[in-house]
Amino acid sequence: MSDLLELSSTERLVASRSTPLSGDIDVPGDKSMSHRALILGALASGETRIAGLLESADVLHTAEALRAFGADVERREPGLWRVRGARWQSPDRPIYCGNSGTGARLMMGAAAAFPIAVTFTGDASLSSRPMERVAAPLRAMGARTEGDRLPVTIRGGNLRGMRFVNDKASAQVKSAILLAGLGADGPVEVVEPMPSRDHSENMLRAFGCDVESNGGVIRLGARRELRGTTVLIPGDPSSAAFAVVAALIVPGSRVTVRNVMVNPLRSGLIRTLREMGADIVTSNRRLEGGEEVADLTVSASRLHAVEVAPKRAPSMIDEYVILAVAAAFAEGRTVMRGLAELRVKESDRLAAIVAGLGACGVEAREEDDSLVVEGDGRPPPGGADVQASGDHRVAMSFLVMGLGATRPVAVDSAGMIATSFPGFVPLMRSLGASIA
Ligand code: S3P
Repeated sequence: MSDLLELSSTERLVASRSTPLSGDIDVPGDKSMSHRALILGALASGETRIAGLLESADVLHTAEALRAFGADVERREPGLWRVRGARWQSPDRPIYCGNSGTGARLMMGAAAAFPIAVTFTGDASLSSRPMERVAAPLRAMGARTEGDRLPVTIRGGNLRGMRFVNDKASAQVKSAILLAGLGADGPVEVVEPMPSRDHSENMLRAFGCDVESNGGVIRLGARRELRGTTVLIPGDPSSAAFAVVAALIVPGSRVTVRNVMVNPLRSGLIRTLREMGADIVTSNRRLEGGEEVADLTVSASRLHAVEVAPKRAPSMIDEYVILAVAAAFAEGRTVMRGLAELRVKESDRLAAIVAGLGACGVEAREEDDSLVVEGDGRPPPGGADVQASGDHRVAMSFLVMGLGATRPVAVDSAGMIATSFPGFVPLMRSLGASIA
């Protein structure tokens, strides 16, 4: 692995109460789409051009991995990449996926379609995350696998189709099965009791593959070859979330985040914040690269508590940490239900939220798979050193907390922010955020 991608988990940053935030910003490209664009490009015949690729550590690990499988992956200019696909070969070394569950799980599925053997590895966080959820269906399709945590070895080829019920509402598991299914004989179906993000389906179609989605059933059709295409990647709503909440909680702020993907299966946070009284105006709605995109203008708002139902979880699964920060500024008891999956993200996010909010003087607790946050509508005390547990989203969320809290908030693991949002600190500073 290149040293460039080795992240420091020790860097400490401190965020302090800020004067009103203002300005227009763009956030980097969507992480989910960036992984998928590279992976599909590496499976496709001909050339794929990608504009707006997120150049974060997670995505760069995927790019590096695809080269080891035999694809030609080239960065032409910042954000502008060219990929030429190949029949994947057994790599001559283990595939290191860094911190990225998406990279690891999607490439496990894609690799299983080929008669090759490959071992996937990752950093300490990724090595503690469950992989059996992908390995088990791949075995049911005929692959051989070893390991339920990384390192995991996959031996693929000669796959048959399957019908899989995605009861965890995991887009990564769904995507792994669809990618494996590209090389399988027979029907491949994923049944979704609760819909998860649909970027794989949308992008597979853009690459010329037959994918039907009907009544919660996703089915691969007969045409499963991919042809290179052009992919435009809009701004990542999960990254925009930090600037959105910062603008809501720092009094007097008004911020526009341009070019944000507003796919309904990714927009649960915006819906929830609006229910809490947030002033978020959507403008310039348009279709770009097959996804809906808009500009979001956010003005500081008085927030009130809400109950967030489990069915909303898949559309905002990465946003609960920053939502919990917003809830700490809201008046009343916010209850978020159906959060079991948060325990197996880059950290145990339920535990990290409760510990971080507690350190900042906010009453918060876990109740089974729910999270309860008590707010009184005033800025929380802050004045804490928060352990981000090596988790990029925990680090960014508590820095946002510090921008509105009475006393500064420090986070460790700030180097991990580069897994998903390189440039977060300078971008927030450009709005007036006090982060040092
Ligand atoms: C992702 C799916 C989600 C999400 C992750 C990205 C994807 O994970 O948390 O950050 O790109 O498919 P799960 O599939 O585990 O829910």
